Amino acid sequence: MVLVGLVVGAAVAVVAVVIPWLPESATDESEAIDLTYWVVTIICIVIFALVAAVSIYAVWKFRAAPDDLEDGKPIHGSTRLEIVWTLVPTILVTAISGVSGWALLDVQNVAEGTRVVNVTAQQFAWSFSYPNAGDRTTGELVLEEGTPVELRLTAKDVIHSFWVPEFRMKQDAVPGITTSVKVTPKKLGTYEVICTELCGLGHSVMRAQARVLSSEDYDAWLEEQPGGAAGGGGGGGGAGGDGQGIFEAQGCGSCHTLSEAGSSAQVGPNLDTVLEGVDADYVRAAIVDPNEEISEGFQPGVMPQDYDERIPEEDLDALVDYLLEATGGGR
Ligand code: CUA
Repeated sequence: MVLVGLVVGAAVAVVAVVIPWLPESATDESEAIDLTYWVVTIICIVIFALVAAVSIYAVWKFRAAPDDLEDGKPIHGSTRLEIVWTLVPTILVTAISGVSGWALLDVQNVAEGTRVVNVTAQQFAWSFSYPNAGDRTTGELVLEEGTPVELRLTAKDVIHSFWVPEFRMKQDAVPGITTSVKVTPKKLGTYEVICTELCGLGHSVMRAQARVLSSEDYDAWLEEQPGGAAGGGGGGGGAGGDGQGIFEAQGCGSCHTLSEAGSSAQVGPNLDTVLEGVDADYVRAAIVDPNEEISEGFQPGVMPQDYDERIPEEDLDALVDYLLEATGGGR
């Protein structure tokens, strides 16, 4: 029986360790989360090995002979056994609660002066605004490596949920209240923000990018301020570069392919083809009133309908110019 238990336990442990079950870990918070995962996994491996050992041994050792139709002897309770099978799970569940409680306190502990990013969810897009950058608003989440950030979440319409698997943190965004979740990115890279609460037709495409930058790159990003630059450059007419900045900042590339901007997403229509030969009015209408005309194979109501409020007028001009230039459209 001991041998069966050891073999089964070792086999399951190999499966647990060799296959990378968790996505890479990109925040300090993920350490506490992963620890609870492994504590539970190890407990499960031991219990599974015990059950398998007793079951397999019993099936083999006490199997009935082909001609034996007798029932086994009735058993009338065993106080000692009942105490054991009550006590052991109680201890295990209490231990798991303890570890989980410690992890929860650890990840929820928001130190004073933690940088804040306001996150707004709506059908079907995310927007992020940065009080430390004059409430600049973007369609991608930009974070600085090593700096803890408190994300304050709210929703405009229905319940959504913020989740970045590599951050291990997940929190609902609920209309009318502000929820919060803390992340301390520890690894440079680009990760996917996923809505993880079924919120309507476009739920599966409600995604955004989270970019973790080094301190220098973060400072450079703070300097950039595409909105201000586009306003200033509007008169000069050289808005092409700014347009790309707005395209990126608004997260257009997380849904649309546009080779000029290096995006290849396929959630919404491919801008390289649908904007070919169209004029400025068409592009503008497609942004501010996306349900007006729906490209074949796509659904109305997936693209947010409030871009006329979210994008300042001069930025919208720059974005339209940029899209026309990028797709070879005329005016
Ligand atoms: Cu928003 Cu699902």
